[in-house]
Amino acid sequence: MLKILASILSADFARLADEIADVEAADVDGLHIDVMDGHYVPNITMGPAVVRGAASVATVPLDAHLMISDPAKYAGDFIAAGVSRVCFHPEVAPDPLALLSFIKKKGAQAGLAVNPDSDVDSMKRLFPKADYVLVMTVFPGFSGQKFIPSALDNVRRVRALFKRDIAVDGGVSPGTARMVYQAGGNVFVVASAVFGRKDRAAAVRALRAAALG
Ligand code: DX5
Ligand code: ZN
Repeated sequence: MLKILASILSADFARLADEIADVEAADVDGLHIDVMDGHYVPNITMGPAVVRGAASVATVPLDAHLMISDPAKYAGDFIAAGVSRVCFHPEVAPDPLALLSFIKKKGAQAGLAVNPDSDVDSMKRLFPKADYVLVMTVFPGFSGQKFIPSALDNVRRVRALFKRDIAVDGGVSPGTARMVYQAGGNVFVVASAVFGRKDRAAAVRALRAAALG
């Protein structure tokens, strides 16, 4: 039930294939790709070309988290590049229901991303069409930020309405894993608490052990 996705944002990009092999050997369930465009968030990361490279060496599924101003324009490119799940921030999609359908029609699972200051109630009409929800516990833009405990209210709110996967993204570590899991998050997206540690297998074990208590 509990899944751990390693966010490659904190990987050593000069050795990306080795880094992917290392976290796969540590038994992560997938690789999370943080896509940032310098408009929706004040940072620029990676595009479909990097995803294609990562997908060519990965043995676990990839998911894209689109932190970009025009997710509808690029979602298809990330699916073509090899991700099997795509989530986007619905407030910047002119027609979020159409984008959820489009992602599914292209053969991927479709997710909705919730910011710490998002109004979950205003999004709930979209939930029946989503395969998963990703709740941010930091403001999107950078890895290594401090976990925002009040954002757990959003995890609880979504869990009350949504029975499928809830991913929690931002500041998830052995110190926060238990509260995330108890709030209803069953997929942990983790960058620094995995890639920031030398022994990735120990890092993943520590996350699972902390979550399950
Ligand atoms: C933040 C990204 C996260 C980030 C998590 O904008 O969406 O996926 O990489 O990083 P950590 O685990 O270091 O908070
Ligand atoms: Zn993310």
